[in-house]
Amino acid sequence: MQLSGTLRIQELTAEERAVYATLKPERLPEHVAIIMDGNGRWAGRRSLKRFLGHQQGAKSVQMVTETASRIGLPWLTLYAFSLENNLRRPRAEISFLMRLLKTYLENNVQRMMDNNVRICYIGRTHELPPEVQDKMRWAEETTARNTGTTLTLALNYGGRSEMVDAFRSLAAEMQRNHSSPDRISEEDIRRHLYTAQMPDPDLLIRTSGEMRISNFLLWQIAYAEIFVTERLWPDFRGVHLLEAIADFQRRERRYGGLGEGGGEVEEDPERIRLAAG
Ligand code: FPP
Repeated sequence: MQLSGTLRIQELTAEERAVYATLKPERLPEHVAIIMDGNGRWAGRRSLKRFLGHQQGAKSVQMVTETASRIGLPWLTLYAFSLENNLRRPRAEISFLMRLLKTYLENNVQRMMDNNVRICYIGRTHELPPEVQDKMRWAEETTARNTGTTLTLALNYGGRSEMVDAFRSLAAEMQRNHSSPDRISEEDIRRHLYTAQMPDPDLLIRTSGEMRISNFLLWQIAYAEIFVTERLWPDFRGVHLLEAIADFQRRERRYGGLGEGGGEVEEDPERIRLAAG
């Protein structure tokens, strides 16, 4: 993994440092993506309004981002607002989430600067309210020269609509270049995705126990390791990110191959006999 910025391990909490000590720093994932789920349930269990769950969830966003920046994680991508949320949630909840995003950016850009965090976005962000877009642009421009963790917020995002947008843009390019469809490669599709400048996630975390992908980064998670925790997003902290990374490091990534020790698998004698004729 390429470490981004400077490691700031001394800034981790004692609990985080204890988990970090079990990690192999040279095998940290390069990109962690998180489906933040469970804000509503967190509030419901406390007989609070859903809005308060989202508000608490925004605090988790900042805390997890800061831990990511301290351990030198280059890319952190958070599913903050899906296209489906935008279409299916009550208007009042959507406008609350938009106000929360604006306030989150206003209140946290200085902390992003202090932590060398760069913020950017993926999704059909041009459909968000103009005043939210203005704040997003301001945060992106202010943090643009930071060299530590890149925090990407997926906003008004859907994996299938990302592919539609990518195919439209690829088709337009092909038309301009008079190129033929049978020359399309995976690389052509990749470079038209919103995530063209990022590596694919190595680790996908989902909070609140649901075993779903929910239309998140469908192309990009082809070989991601998936970690699902029962913990609800407002209770998720940096130490839980480190625990997920520890679990990731215990896995063997095979990318469709046999992995370590695969060469030692005994050949089927019948297959050898048939091949020998
Ligand atoms: C799921 O909770 C989470 C969301 C709808 C989006 C995530 C939003 C935040 C973490 C808050 C704001 C984020 C930023 C970046 C300021 P849910 O309502 O679906 O929970 P439930 O499944 O328990 O009802």
